[in-house]
Amino acid sequence: MDDNSYEAFVESLGLDGDSMEAALKSAPEPLVEEGAPYEVKPSEIHGKGVFATKDVDGYIGILKRDEWYELGRYANHSATPNAKVNILNDKLVVYGKVKAGEEITLDYSLVKEMVELQESILVVDDFCDQIEMVIASAKAAGFSTWRPNKGEVGTSVYDGMGFWGHHALMLRNIIPAVGDVILPNSMFFRVTNEGMEKAYIHSDRESGNWTCVAYLSEHEQPYGTAFYRHKPTGLIEMPTFAEMKEMGIFEELKEDMVSRDPEKWEQIGYVEGKYNRALIFYAPLFHSRYPLEGIGTNEEEGRLVWVSHFFKLDGYGRLY
Ligand SMILES: [Fe+2]
Repeated sequence: MDDNSYEAFVESLGLDGDSMEAALKSAPEPLVEEGAPYEVKPSEIHGKGVFATKDVDGYIGILKRDEWYELGRYANHSATPNAKVNILNDKLVVYGKVKAGEEITLDYSLVKEMVELQESILVVDDFCDQIEMVIASAKAAGFSTWRPNKGEVGTSVYDGMGFWGHHALMLRNIIPAVGDVILPNSMFFRVTNEGMEKAYIHSDRESGNWTCVAYLSEHEQPYGTAFYRHKPTGLIEMPTFAEMKEMGIFEELKEDMVSRDPEKWEQIGYVEGKYNRALIFYAPLFHSRYPLEGIGTNEEEGRLVWVSHFFKLDGYGRLY
């Protein structure tokens, strides 16, 4: 039995084959995705499987949103899968290249990791009912270049920053979304235009445990936030600086974060920027604005976001 087997996956959940079968039997029926290019039928790998009903090269279907879909329930494990899992907005979805009749397989250890990732990302549409007032407050205050001390990783020049505005409205709307009292470390607006410094692939770990990005602009081209896996280390979250130094990967990671070399980074998620949509995520995750370049040439055309780095507060007064 290799570590990647179905049995190993079941064991990692603290179950054995029988209790797994029982858990699956008592689970609610999976959702059916209308028009999906697959069917569920008996598999030679294990129980039921998911089989392509036509040739597909790209999007196959939804694995999980709040609930599991058939693809999530029935796709069998393979150590050499023909499909892989990705985040799209608030959904876990599957991409792959499969021929009609072929069984669609996934690597369960990656599925497990991606389920955790999806659960640490929250997408809230119609985030703030006074968003126009917020945007007006940011534009009235204006944007300029911020020159902080360069930290261990990062830049010493941030263009298009605005610090003044109706930040209280963001906090008021994050609280019901996350279901906790929150305490912010920072709050700002940022407009990015063509020609400004390109985004790094980075983590917000040093800024707080959670990040909220609210998208305040609309564009014809797709824009948003992308999440990444660092291919050489397999990491999807940035360890602390101390941990990276101890692991001997600090210099390598720093170089790769700045280079954004596609050979070093696999994009594992994308949340589309939509007017008045907020993305709230676990801050250590590797991410970057998408596209890396800004948009338009002035404040009106630019990619405008409203950001807070924050902690949640538990019942004992501890930040987490
Ligand atoms: Fe960030």
